[in-house]
Amino acid sequence: MKRKTAAFAAAALFLLIAAASSAFTARIPGNEPTAAERAAAENPSERFGFTRAQWESTLVELPAFIRNAIHSDEELFFKEMDEILDTERSFFVHIDTQTPVEPIDCRPADLVDLSGYPVETDKPMRLRKAAAEAFAALSQAAADDGIRIFAVSGYRTYDYQKRLYDRMKNDVGKAGLPVSAAPGHSQHQTGLAADFNSLRQDFDETKEGRWLRSHAAEFGWSLSYPEEFETLTGYDYEPWHFRYLTAAACRLQKRFFADVQFYLTRYLHDWYGFYKEFRINE
Ligand code: DAL
Ligand code: ZN
Repeated sequence: MKRKTAAFAAAALFLLIAAASSAFTARIPGNEPTAAERAAAENPSERFGFTRAQWESTLVELPAFIRNAIHSDEELFFKEMDEILDTERSFFVHIDTQTPVEPIDCRPADLVDLSGYPVETDKPMRLRKAAAEAFAALSQAAADDGIRIFAVSGYRTYDYQKRLYDRMKNDVGKAGLPVSAAPGHSQHQTGLAADFNSLRQDFDETKEGRWLRSHAAEFGWSLSYPEEFETLTGYDYEPWHFRYLTAAACRLQKRFFADVQFYLTRYLHDWYGFYKEFRINE
């Protein structure tokens, strides 16, 4: 019994000395982390488990005006990022002239016929279910304001887009950029994009075009190819082409991504998995 007590006392003493000496080592001047090292190691949000350094590395490729907007209200940014993670990733897929859908001839699983919804179309048409519901909400609100919104294009298969592209590939718009996406590169193939009312650039001067520009985001619809961003998007200005992104993502786009869909979806394409991995209440 005595031997046991002595062994415990020796072990306790050893632990005490080890703890004291490591505390002493940590306090040696020069071994202390610098303020920058401490900031890099801190956790910038209670919603995610990453360090500031890990998180900042996701922002480096964004333009400075977007980084500044994010840094100006990080708490709101994290809150809104957290919220959009409740929506599955396919809603935020990024597609552009260089980035096709994957696989290139894919088709969404949850397409619905718009004839089953209280919406107007100029021909039979399909969209993904959430987009169809959001279109119904948008057209009802527009009708309440005395505005008639109807769809002239919705989901397109890879083969349909190929036929369209083959017919229109030499057509360019005002900015000299293509009016049709190559097959596999059209947002219409996701079942989340729609063209509304008119395929004329002066649609934005009509009351319908102006209503869409002001209200579409409330129903989760985001303008894909805005004026003055033709070089970024790779397409001419299309005031009629919107993509369903969810209302939460449209708020994020407006507040932090200069209200430019391309910047938001590019960022989500690259980093959605990162946020999902580090989300604390997953
Ligand atoms: N007009 C757009 C770019 C498309 O063809 O998807
Ligand atoms: Zn379109």
